[in-house]
Amino acid sequence: MFGASEEEGPDMPANKKLLVLAGDGIGPEVVGQVRRVVDWMDRRRHVSFDIAEGLVGGAAIDAHGLPLTDETLADAVASDAVLFGSVGGPKWETLPFDVQPERGLLRLRKEMDLFANLRPAIVFDALADASSLKRELVSGLDIMILRELTGGIYFGEPRGIEDLGNGVRRGINTQVYTTPEVERVARVGFELARKRSNRVMSVEKANVMESGVMWREDVQRIHDEEFPDVELAHMYADNCAMQLVRNPKQFDVIVTDNLFGDLLSDCAAMLTGSLGMLPSASLGAEDPTTGRRLSLYEPVHGSAPDIAGEDRANPLAELLSFSMMLRYSFDMGEDADLVDGAVENVLASGVRTADIAEPGRQPVSCSAMGDAVLAELDRLAA
Ligand code: IPM
Ligand code: MG
Repeated sequence: MFGASEEEGPDMPANKKLLVLAGDGIGPEVVGQVRRVVDWMDRRRHVSFDIAEGLVGGAAIDAHGLPLTDETLADAVASDAVLFGSVGGPKWETLPFDVQPERGLLRLRKEMDLFANLRPAIVFDALADASSLKRELVSGLDIMILRELTGGIYFGEPRGIEDLGNGVRRGINTQVYTTPEVERVARVGFELARKRSNRVMSVEKANVMESGVMWREDVQRIHDEEFPDVELAHMYADNCAMQLVRNPKQFDVIVTDNLFGDLLSDCAAMLTGSLGMLPSASLGAEDPTTGRRLSLYEPVHGSAPDIAGEDRANPLAELLSFSMMLRYSFDMGEDADLVDGAVENVLASGVRTADIAEPGRQPVSCSAMGDAVLAELDRLAA
């Protein structure tokens, strides 16, 4: 089923331009394991990537004094896809807010206009016991959180900290959405749902926030006009957080704003056993003439400075992010299935990094997990 492609010569797929931004903390380690799989793809599946590397986050601050240079941003825009590791760490925490590592990631998202952030939460059967919830609540779970990524309170103006005198300050952030911003992410949500179980839950706080009232109305209108075949319901964000831990299998696609999506996706990640398992894809709009869309793939987990450099991190979220890249940027569903299948089989065989290890069983290192995935890929492709 997964036989190596026989394509050669003129039929060989054109090279794909990939920019790797490994970043800080465990980023370089987990990206390193993905690079091994990329090499494997090249050798065994004749899929060649043109790989360039760049600096982001603390690594870029150390080299250039900025978390993202204009040159790296231009490289990202010019590439077919960006593979992102993670940013941040205690070393840079005392820097002024505007030049902290996270600003590099936020600038990439904003300037590349990556408005649709897909965060699937899938429970691999072998990991159902690693979840903090009971097995029956999570086994077979497959939900997609679609987070709006370039608007809302993350980027709204006015923002800042004002000095009102007499030792009084005012901290300000602004939740703001326009109709086109809501509509475009809603459309992505409905399109995703049509390829899944055809159900969308739109999440906001329309009981408290006008931006939430507008969100609800705009999503409903897009549904009624363009996607009447998809089942749509609405939920307040606080209730959604509760429902995610009460009965997560009620959801198919959840579409929500930037901040609620940040919170709810961390919550959903834990349902799958570990934050170390959750991949994500951040997509821009499709260019109507070329069909090309900008994209960035990153694990939901952060830079985990406490274990950085110790070869203990779980590389699977980064690897599953690469598999999303194959699927969404390069339309290589079969290769993506191959990677996903290898991950599933490796987990089923009991190989676990520390974050998902069963009590009493010896966890493997980050690189040993990479070894196991490569061995399984060889077996599947034999
Ligand atoms: C995420 C992260 C980021 C966010 C941070 C690192 C800026 O938590 O991708 O979920 O808040 O969006
Ligand atoms: Mg987050």
